[in-house]
Amino acid sequence: MTKKQLFAAAAEALKNSYAPYSGYNVGAALLCSDGTVYTGVNVENASFPAGCCAERTAVFSAVADGHRDFTAIAIAAGKGGVAGDSAFPCGICRQVLSEFCDSDFKIYTGKSIDEISEFTLGELLPYSFGSANLR
Ligand code: THU
Repeated sequence: MTKKQLFAAAAEALKNSYAPYSGYNVGAALLCSDGTVYTGVNVENASFPAGCCAERTAVFSAVADGHRDFTAIAIAAGKGGVAGDSAFPCGICRQVLSEFCDSDFKIYTGKSIDEISEFTLGELLPYSFGSANLR
C-alpha cells in the first residue's frame, strides 16, 4: 500500500464525513501492519464536544475489530466534502495514536494525492506521556 493509495482511501472516506456544524470534512485511512485499512470520518454532534475526529474514528474501528498494530495514517480534509486542505491530527488524536503506535509511525497529509507531506508521530508528539509513565 503506497502513501498515495492510503491518501486516496482517506479522500474517499471524506465523502461520508458528517460535519454540518463546522463544514470542515475530514477523512482518515489507517494502515495496519497486516495490510488492512480502516477508514474514519469526523462525526459532529449538536452537543459539540460529543463529536469525534476522523483519526480517532479510524483507530477505534480498528481496535474494535481486533487490530492494534498500525504503520501509517493518511488524512484528507477540506470544506464541502472535497480534499483541499493539509490537515494535521489534533492533539487528542495524536495522544490516541501514541497509545498504539511507535514514534516512527507515519502520518501523511496533503491538499491532494499529488501533494502529500510525510511526518512521524515522534515529530508531531515529542516527549509524549504514555503507559510507561504509569508502570
Ligand atoms: N477534525 C478532525 O476530524 N481531525 C483533525 O485532525 C482536526 C479536526 C474535525 C473535528 C471537527 O469535526 C472539525 O474537524 C472541525 O474542527
